[in-house]
Amino acid sequence: MARVALVTGGSRGIGEAISKALQAAGYTVAATYAGNDEAAAKFTEETGIKTYKWNVADYDSSVAGIAKVEEDLGPVDVVVANAGITRDAPFHKMTKDQWQQVIDTNLTGVFNTVHPVWPGMRERKFGRVIVISSINGQKGQFAQVNYAATKAGDLGIVKSLAQEGARAGITANAICPGYIATEMVMAVPEKVRESIIGQIPAGRLGEPEEIARCVVFLASEDAGFINGSTISANGAQFFA
Ligand code: CAA
Repeated sequence: MARVALVTGGSRGIGEAISKALQAAGYTVAATYAGNDEAAAKFTEETGIKTYKWNVADYDSSVAGIAKVEEDLGPVDVVVANAGITRDAPFHKMTKDQWQQVIDTNLTGVFNTVHPVWPGMRERKFGRVIVISSINGQKGQFAQVNYAATKAGDLGIVKSLAQEGARAGITANAICPGYIATEMVMAVPEKVRESIIGQIPAGRLGEPEEIARCVVFLASEDAGFINGSTISANGAQFFA
């Protein structure tokens, strides 16, 4: 039977490409989304991939949502914690609310997504946890004290989970995308974006599919000895 993969934030941006690539690789995919019903409906219509709506920042909603996914599709073998937001502001202007929203979604959201599927993975002696971090968790970023803190935190999560899961056949790895051509990066002011592209030796933004292919590899049986790693996919912009 096909393995089940859960992708948070899986109907748009990098998550959309991940959901599609996992489906193409033979997984039964569940994609979550937080609010954009229209995009989710269009995504399901195009791909046939089921979508589920919940807020990853809320633990109880995550538990209930994942229970529904497992009831519909079967136990989750692969979990891709991809959902994330930005609330960029220079630190002197950053509000407590901007800090908290990003922590709740990007960091606590990873806990909320992985914690409910972890016991089942331990019991079945197989699991793949893949967390989408960021180049900005590795190097820091002007106006992203909140976001960079969460993305650096992701690396601590996977390195710890890797040690806890290794004997149970579970791997946990992070991918650090550089600047990828998604709505999130397109929301950066054009002048700033042009200057960022100037700092990428590849001379271009990455494509969501370039991240999705890393996910498919990490999810595979072949990647079983890769555990606690960080894959950087950033066009040579930064070496961790
Ligand atoms: N490095 C150094 N200085 C920078 C800077 C940078 N990267 N970005 C902006 N500045 C400077 C500006 O030049 C300007 O300086 P002056 O005042 O001397 O002209 C100052 O910061 C801007 O100050 P403002 O008070 O006007 O800033 P603002 O409140 O209007 O905020 C901003 C503007 C939010 C910082 C905006 O410039 C911005 O969005 N920058 C991009 C931040 C960024 O890279 N975010 C990444 C998003 S993509 C992502 O997160 C995905 C991923 O994982 C890679």
